[in-house]
Amino acid sequence: MIQKIEITKREDLREKPTDFSQVKFGKTFSDHMFLMNFSNDKGWHDARIVPHGPISIDLGSMVFHYAQEIFEGMKAYRTKDDKIQLFRPEENFKRMASSAKRLSMPPVDKDMFLEALTSLLLVDQEWVPKESGASLYIRPFMIATDVGLGVQASDSYLFCILTSPVGNYYPEGLNPISVLIEDQDVRAVRGGTGEAKCGGNYAASIRASAKAKEKGFSQVLWLDGIEQKYVEEVGAMNVMFKVDGKIMTPSLNGSVLAGVTRKSSMELLKNWGYEVEERAISVDELMTYIKEGRLEEAFGTGTAAVITPIGQLNYKGESFDIGAGEIGPVTQKLYEGLTGIQWGRIEDTYGWTVPIK
Ligand SMILES: Cc1ncc(COP(=O)(O)O)c(C=O)c1O
Repeated sequence: MIQKIEITKREDLREKPTDFSQVKFGKTFSDHMFLMNFSNDKGWHDARIVPHGPISIDLGSMVFHYAQEIFEGMKAYRTKDDKIQLFRPEENFKRMASSAKRLSMPPVDKDMFLEALTSLLLVDQEWVPKESGASLYIRPFMIATDVGLGVQASDSYLFCILTSPVGNYYPEGLNPISVLIEDQDVRAVRGGTGEAKCGGNYAASIRASAKAKEKGFSQVLWLDGIEQKYVEEVGAMNVMFKVDGKIMTPSLNGSVLAGVTRKSSMELLKNWGYEVEERAISVDELMTYIKEGRLEEAFGTGTAAVITPIGQLNYKGESFDIGAGEIGPVTQKLYEGLTGIQWGRIEDTYGWTVPIK
């Protein structure tokens, strides 16, 4: 059910970025934010758009102690003809609803989720950048707000949407990154919360990423949390490999996040005639492909960077090059295909884009 959204606009409008090469991811926020409360007796209520800024919240709120929190990440894109559009927002809604279920939180109504996004984007439409490759990153999230230190589901929640202008992730073009295969820390385990988009997963991932960066790698390649034998994700992206002309990607086994870019990439690739295989891929199998020269391309998929080519993998101290430091043709084609649809340069024959205005 769609509720009326109360809108309070700010008078002291913030300055919008002009030079996107100086904009750091997620550091600048637009003028307004969306808020809505949940309580067991009232359900979702008090939908409102207010000036973005701090709110008062009791430090005894459950979110601070047991991390009952979920979030999403998506973008609004401005097209050449000055329209604003979203990319597959229903997929983000579905994933948020399934994250909510895993974390024992109440889902937001689908129509309300889409209405909240649309209303906020219309209020802050000037914040959707016009610069090439730039977009407005959207962060819907939900936190547990009951005050209490007992470990149980909260009875009250706050659902929020913040937006943040971001530049092209790769202003100098796509350059292959080097990746460390992490064989100590794990990101998630089956039966845990890996397939939910909850903050705790990311807190657990920071140590390995920081260690990898210290050693000069851009990202880690996560292995499964049970045997540390199977490849799962790369940083906060899904991962794909092209072997003998065929694309393979780890299956959604419960600890892998079901990426919207992953799903869209698979659909595009299949449509272009590639065979796409979803299954468990062991790191040993991957090493064999590398040693036999059969690993043609490797790349990460995710909303922030869209497609990230992987140029080097390091496993147990040994480095292996993939694709001679160049971005592979399928990686490039996928990047062009997805960004083309997102920014409206290519006609969307899939019905993935949703116009806001
Ligand atoms: C752990 C993880 N895997 C994969 C992805 C890619 O998902 P999407 O393509 O929906 O952005 C993300 C980013 O949201 C992520 O955080």
